[in-house]
Amino acid sequence: MSTQNPTNFNDEDSNTTSNTAFEQVLDSRLSRRSLFKGAGLVGVAAGATALTGCATPMSGGGATLTSLGFKPVAKSLADKVVVPEGYTAQVIYALGDPLTATTPAFKNDGTDAAFEQRAGDHHDGMEWFGLDASGQPSNAFTSRGLLAMNHEATTDEKLSSFFIHPNGGTATLPRPAAEVDKELAIHGLSFVEVQTNGKQWAYKAASPFNRRVTTMTPAAIHGPARGSEHLVTKFSADATSSRGTLNNCGTGKTPWGTFVSGEENWYGYFFRDAKDDDARKKDKQVQALKRYGRKAGEASRHGWESAGADDRFVRWNNSAVAASAKEDYRNEMNTFGYVVEVDAYDTKAPMRKRTGLGRFAHESVAFARPVAGQPIVAYMGDDARGEYIYKFVSEAKWDPKDASGANRLAAGDKYLDKGTLFAARFKGDGTGEWLELSMNNPVLAGSSYFEFKSNADMAIFTRLAADAVGATKMDRPEWNGVHPRTGEVYFTLTNNSNRTAATADAVNPRVYTDMKGSKEQKGNVNGHIVRLADASPAGASFKWDIYVFGAEAGADKSTVNLSNLTDENDMSSPDGLVFSPATGVCWIQTDDGAYTDKTNCMMLAAIPGKQGDGGPRTVKHGDKNVTTFVGKTPTPTTLARFLVGPKGSEITGWCETPDGRAVFINIQHPGESTKMADVNDPSKYESQWPANAGYGAGQRPRSATIVITKNDGGTIGS
Ligand code: FEO
Ligand code: CA
Ligand code: CA
Repeated sequence: MSTQNPTNFNDEDSNTTSNTAFEQVLDSRLSRRSLFKGAGLVGVAAGATALTGCATPMSGGGATLTSLGFKPVAKSLADKVVVPEGYTAQVIYALGDPLTATTPAFKNDGTDAAFEQRAGDHHDGMEWFGLDASGQPSNAFTSRGLLAMNHEATTDEKLSSFFIHPNGGTATLPRPAAEVDKELAIHGLSFVEVQTNGKQWAYKAASPFNRRVTTMTPAAIHGPARGSEHLVTKFSADATSSRGTLNNCGTGKTPWGTFVSGEENWYGYFFRDAKDDDARKKDKQVQALKRYGRKAGEASRHGWESAGADDRFVRWNNSAVAASAKEDYRNEMNTFGYVVEVDAYDTKAPMRKRTGLGRFAHESVAFARPVAGQPIVAYMGDDARGEYIYKFVSEAKWDPKDASGANRLAAGDKYLDKGTLFAARFKGDGTGEWLELSMNNPVLAGSSYFEFKSNADMAIFTRLAADAVGATKMDRPEWNGVHPRTGEVYFTLTNNSNRTAATADAVNPRVYTDMKGSKEQKGNVNGHIVRLADASPAGASFKWDIYVFGAEAGADKSTVNLSNLTDENDMSSPDGLVFSPATGVCWIQTDDGAYTDKTNCMMLAAIPGKQGDGGPRTVKHGDKNVTTFVGKTPTPTTLARFLVGPKGSEITGWCETPDGRAVFINIQHPGESTKMADVNDPSKYESQWPANAGYGAGQRPRSATIVITKNDGGTIGS
């Protein structure tokens, strides 16, 4: 979701802990000599460790690319998708497209209804689930499959999702029920069949595999929080179920072949009564609600709670209004913020909330390559300013037979319902440690910061647990991906307007001012990508460096453009990050508001080396010197701009056919800066994409999936 939204529901800033300061105390104890020693050869050893054992291949079939073969595209402000010479991009699936044979075609004039049977809005993270000719799951077939994707949010200026209502909808409270019902249905997930005839890809409107999951779809609560008093609602008195998934951003594909999706900025959808702190008396949740971005009296993003007395509206009022939690929705927020798991191949299988992976503003879930007899390891980031990086280590050990088992969600139960969550602490010497978030950790069992009674509390109040153990506050951890050869994990840190010279540390070292026209932008404006080499995937220690710093090519090379980016690869605000299983290429996507005076958001291809392949660099902030570790300087054959999107869009979601010859990505929220008042004046739209690319009726901009192929049939990136 873009950083430009004036309503700021994606601009959470709730971490008031002093964890960074704590980190600086640690750093100051280290001599400069030990700082310089840290960045050495450890990445090689860690990578070698990750490669040993019988790793189960996830998929693959293309050849690993060792250098990029395309001519980088220039920055662009055009209202179109730009791809390199020799490549073609085609729109295949946009907001409102019918998912059943009987759903009417999308008119795109605000009168369309039945969004439970249409593509949702704001296409985001996406995964490929192959099908063979007879409709059975296949990791090899390349011409037919399911796209499983998130529909994160919707384009709003004030309350209303104005492009889906005839005259823009209602920007004041109360919201009409009919408008809210449409908005409840455009969020969630979709599963849609796509196929190619050898020349062109298309989605299949009548496929029996097509499925929508919305804010109203029942979910089963799994993992340590199942049955917790903090998840009791009027909908589920025994706290075993909930409704819906919301603001889903990044995704993942499990080693056992299911889809996982992270709930990100869900907090903004809830209203809290101004007197709710008093109504809850001394409930510890008052502290937790603040920590998760909802103070008493805060308004909700769309005002859904105002649409009437029906339960489907009332549930968005997260206030203690009745005598007990069984009679109201004071705990409804606690049923969001998880990773959900869905079996993409089974339209009847219920969605499961995997609470063991913690509750925060989830982005993607990247799995370390599974090794027989070893735990399953999943890496995750919490995207808000000053939040943390996490990993989950399963209790169960990997059995390769589960890679092709028939009951995929039972495998999910086995690996994701029992395990241990850790938060990352980065040290100034280029090492780090994983801090255990469980009742086994005496810091948490005896905490005076927050009352943790059980591992259910760790799962529900994860941010507070990470605060208490002293995890490192990061510059907005977004997506992450595991390098298929080295096993190292890459996290995008998209930007942080709150980073100051006082809080700059080795792993978040940059603080500067960048101009956008006459506007000053401060902090870590352009973001960076940190790289971790775990000593072993399930282990407690790691080495780190910064793979690349986002920057404008013309920015100062001693303070800002530390990776020497050039016109071929300069970028700002990396967000999506996925490694191709087929080619090994790392695809980096931006969700930027800082460099958008010069270019729309983009996707870059990268062939990174490994942790420690660069060296230490010292950045000066007045009298303060911060030493960090920067990866080897990229060149246009190892990092290059591959695509630029239409106006007002962010680039997100990435998956491919197993041969690496077709790549699917999402163009999210084109034209999102359009004024609601101009909804019926296309000449004033910020964007008319994809209509101006020849796709669909009307001129209102729509989020959409595109497929990219190479004209000579080659792998994408070659
Ligand atoms: Fe949904 Fe933080 O990007
Ligand atoms: Ca995003
Ligand atoms: Ca600038």
